[in-house]
Amino acid sequence: MDSAIDDIIVGQSAAVKEMKKLIEVVASSPTSVLVLGETGSGKELVAQAIHAASGRSGRLISVNCAAIPGELLESELFGHEKGSFTGADKAREGRVELAHGGTLFLDEIGDMPLALQSKLLRVLESRTVQRVGGNTEIDVDFRLVCATHQNMQARVDEGSFRADLFYRINVFPIQVPTLAERHVDVPLITNTILAQLTAVGGGDRPSLEESAMTELSRYPWPGNVRELRNVLERAMVMFPGQAITSTHVRENLLRMKAPNHDEEMDALWEASQDLSGVDLIADKAEAPLPHPSHYADWFSYFDGIDMRRHLRDIEVVLIEAALAHSNGMVSQAAELLKLRRTTLIEKMKKLMIERPGSNDDTNTASG
Ligand SMILES: Nc1ncnc2c1ncn2[C@@H]1O[C@H](COP(=O)(O)OP(=O)(O)OP(=O)(O)O)[C@@H](O)[C@H]1O
Ligand SMILES: [Mg+2]
Repeated sequence: MDSAIDDIIVGQSAAVKEMKKLIEVVASSPTSVLVLGETGSGKELVAQAIHAASGRSGRLISVNCAAIPGELLESELFGHEKGSFTGADKAREGRVELAHGGTLFLDEIGDMPLALQSKLLRVLESRTVQRVGGNTEIDVDFRLVCATHQNMQARVDEGSFRADLFYRINVFPIQVPTLAERHVDVPLITNTILAQLTAVGGGDRPSLEESAMTELSRYPWPGNVRELRNVLERAMVMFPGQAITSTHVRENLLRMKAPNHDEEMDALWEASQDLSGVDLIADKAEAPLPHPSHYADWFSYFDGIDMRRHLRDIEVVLIEAALAHSNGMVSQAAELLKLRRTTLIEKMKKLMIERPGSNDDTNTASG
């Protein structure tokens, strides 16, 4: 394993090892990578690891497509010539040019406006860029890494993301596991982050009792590693140089109760979002399902749960995902779900799920 990857991405769980292997395999090639994963799961770190292990001598240039308004994003990406718009008093290189010889990281690519998607597609096809207000083609050689927390196939289906651009960026997808899916890594990540926080901010590093570490490992972490980092920052402030107990963790550090039903559902929904995830490495052994045991501690953190509604929501997402995966073939979807075909059809009727691209002909023998 390239040690640069290990230095950047901490973790020894099966899910993380698998991901690091994929990073290592793809890093030295010019292939475009699409990093998928929930908020706070470490998508940006994956981009850094790919660049570090790529051997490319240029820089890693990041652009957050969601954070920059559409009108500015174009000149940010492609640069502009002097006088091309009010306020453009100097010519400026775009981020694409700056990434020459290196890696261009387009974060939150799912949020890129449609008009810019066409322009990006042209750049990817021609490997040249034209500054705003300019008319010369500038050759660029960069490795593209994109990231998103969105379901890109759904964006394509609803028409807000160009299918041709999606195919171009989705050459090699890498799914970042949720922290709950690699909870065995929580102690290692916790110690790494505490060391980082101490190195950067000084302060007396608290220590965690074993039971406190167990408590952290059991929490479902809907905000993933970023949430863990926030909790540890809070711990540095509240318990400098002290021994943190499991009671401290539960009562002072973890967010205790979701304020209302909708937030609770949002957190759950987020936690199960990836069930409908884009088709990833086909023979990936581990399904990215929240482990049922993660619900064991539910009532330590939340007041209640609408269980029937939640289970129904999971059913809907899984059935729709299976149908999409099997191109609407009901019997194939039933196989994916390990259900009898007739049981699946019954469920689809009850949940009012239609086969994609069909007018409810679930009763015909075609599936
Ligand atoms: N394996 C890890 N080891 C240590 N720290 C990590 C790890 N993964 C993520 N982090 C830390 O967690 C935080 C969130 O990571 P990052 O910004 O890469 O996530 P993200 O998926 O890009 O999030 P978002 O979707 O919110 O942009 C960062 O502070 C990062 O350093
Ligand atoms: Mg990010």
